[in-house]
Amino acid sequence: MNAPSRIDGGMIGRSVPRIDGRLKVTGAACYPSDVGVEDAAHAFLVTSTIARGRIKQFHLEDAQAVEGVLDILTYENTRGKVGKARFFAGGGYTSTTIMPMDSPKIWHDGQIVAMVVAETFEAAREAAHKVRVDYDVREAVAGFGDTRPQPRQMSNPLSGSDPKTGDAEKAFREAEVQVDAYYATPTQHHNPIELFTTTCVWSGDTLTVYEPSQFVHGLKNGLAQQLNMSADKIRVVSPFVGGAFGSKAALTPRTAFVALAAKRLNRPVKLVSTRAQAFTVSTYRAETEHHVKLGADRSGRLTSLSHEGWEVSSRPDNYKVAGTETTSLLYACPNIYTKVNIVHADRGTPGFMRSPAEVPYVYALECAMDELAVALTMDPVELRRINDTQVNPIDGKPYSSRALMQCYDRAAEAFGWSKRNPLPGSMTDGDWLIGWGCATACYPSNVAPAEARVTVAPNGTVRVQTAGHDIGTGAYTAIALTAADLLGVPLEQVSVELGDSTLPPAPVAGGSNATASICNAVAQACEDIRDRLAQAASHADGPLGGADHGAMRLRDGRLVTPDGRSEPLKDALTRIDFGPMESYVKYTPEIASGTVKVMGHKMLESGLPAMTSGSAAGDHIQYAFGAEFLEVRIHRRTREIRVPRIVGAFAAGRIISPTTARSQLLGGMIWGIGSALHEATDIDRRAARYLNDDLAEYLIPVNADIRDVDVIFVPEEDYQVNALGIKGLGELGNVGTAAAVSNAVFHATGRRIRDLPIRIEDLL
Ligand code: MOS
Repeated sequence: MNAPSRIDGGMIGRSVPRIDGRLKVTGAACYPSDVGVEDAAHAFLVTSTIARGRIKQFHLEDAQAVEGVLDILTYENTRGKVGKARFFAGGGYTSTTIMPMDSPKIWHDGQIVAMVVAETFEAAREAAHKVRVDYDVREAVAGFGDTRPQPRQMSNPLSGSDPKTGDAEKAFREAEVQVDAYYATPTQHHNPIELFTTTCVWSGDTLTVYEPSQFVHGLKNGLAQQLNMSADKIRVVSPFVGGAFGSKAALTPRTAFVALAAKRLNRPVKLVSTRAQAFTVSTYRAETEHHVKLGADRSGRLTSLSHEGWEVSSRPDNYKVAGTETTSLLYACPNIYTKVNIVHADRGTPGFMRSPAEVPYVYALECAMDELAVALTMDPVELRRINDTQVNPIDGKPYSSRALMQCYDRAAEAFGWSKRNPLPGSMTDGDWLIGWGCATACYPSNVAPAEARVTVAPNGTVRVQTAGHDIGTGAYTAIALTAADLLGVPLEQVSVELGDSTLPPAPVAGGSNATASICNAVAQACEDIRDRLAQAASHADGPLGGADHGAMRLRDGRLVTPDGRSEPLKDALTRIDFGPMESYVKYTPEIASGTVKVMGHKMLESGLPAMTSGSAAGDHIQYAFGAEFLEVRIHRRTREIRVPRIVGAFAAGRIISPTTARSQLLGGMIWGIGSALHEATDIDRRAARYLNDDLAEYLIPVNADIRDVDVIFVPEEDYQVNALGIKGLGELGNVGTAAAVSNAVFHATGRRIRDLPIRIEDLL
């Protein structure tokens, strides 16, 4: 099908308030955790207090004696009743191969060991606290060793996927200017406001699951595998999600046990995990370490780039994010070496967390680039300009478009970068040391098969249905704008239904692919409707008889021809059908690989990942870019660190919904500041247990930490990425931010802090 028409003055690109905003602020939006189910029993988890070993014995008598307790699930009565679902190391639809309550084995701290079900939440909680477990405790590995670099315990390099070209080692040895440094990022946990809840309701042999999810089709199919039942018999409902950031992308172990408990009791069961349990019953961002070596000539041209990364995973799973895919193609360089190592530890399996690969890996590279600029006594923006590239240096494939330097120039100007004195410690304001830093943001423009149904009623109201998700990103609004644009109707006339597995399948709301994937599907459905209306109008007697149907457009509630003839949409609709007019589209991305081209929609229906990465888009690569500049102020005596302002300029193709896109970039940059200065999950290394598993001690930025945040859109047209020209930007904003902070801290103090987060004590 041809590229959908691009209409000047259409709804795409209009700044409108989010269409679900009123529902959300009035409390009318029904999140899965809010669903009230008649006669539900309440479940409470018991989780392991050791990280490695075996359960010797349960003592359940005290728990069973609590009034209202209905059932207690442990491996002794659930073993063999819940099967495994498929796991994909690249981020699958099940988060882990670790099966709790299948054996006495303990793989990590906080693993589910029992589930108490009672008449009330309070009774379930009380009884859960009265469950005593005797363990055989074995010594646990918490993560990286205390010495670095290698060797690491059970290091397991996955071969074959490490980009390289030329001879990076030789070129580094011969380089006129060298940077050789280690960087580290900490464990992080998503902490969405909506907790990890699940409510299961059986009706005969069909199961309804209310659970906040970024991928209802994945959840449905994974759960069907685990429960050994047909996926057709499961419905997953998640129309709103109270935060996710990757933590609700995959099926986690709790869900099947809630379904099992509901079956055993023959009544609905609702589970609410606690905030502390959220740290171990879902996924997390594993800590990473990086060894970056850059070699350059005196003019600043890179001659050698090597990036070796280490990531923690669980003992059984080879989970890795492997961001060298991106750091190897960011700058022109003839000699590149990359390697990614997995360090297995007695921890849960990690998973997606906003910009999973780019956040830690680009952090390391962008700090190293700043160090190189210092070593060259060169402006860091000029260093990026000298090494800018329009092709992947590994294989020469061109970027579909790349406006990195336009982003740098726009952001630098808005920030006032030209007034920067490059000398560290040279800029002050009273007792405050001022540091200015910058870094590159980038994210692959991923896209996946998606299906959508668009229905136009005889009165011209439009209904869009697809099982995509609005995880706070603005998907409802972007999808409505797309339909309103292509059908030429007011936004108020469009309703959008998402987050229900009975709707046409759509991909995971992850990898920043949702807008591109779903809006292209919706646009094709609208285009199909337009074309059918136009054909009928051109063949019939009437004002448009004989006109070229391909050139007709829907705008302002009318079907119009280029020469100015038109008729109301309602008249056009009456001609073609007496009832509503419907179009169902199975969109396959233009860049999809052969397998996805052939199998994509089958994969989508069975909940398998079918996303094509922007780093592997056939004959080209496709990325969104940005440049972020920020100021830190460090108090001369107390070393208090403040970020009074940040400016980001972004080129991410066509912006469908500017209001919500800006919000995504703004939130991303704020998270980036938090990543640099606040966030870290602390681990008791002797016991391999998380220490700060609550929102009092897991630090995130609050209002007082964030002052001016400026988002600039750099216009970019790129219809090679997909027909609508969408690059996706949900994750773009928080890539590079932490490096900009670290670089600014160096500029303020002359101290290079390479391990995140940067805290006052690092600067004393
Ligand atoms: Mo995003 S971390 O891919 O949900």
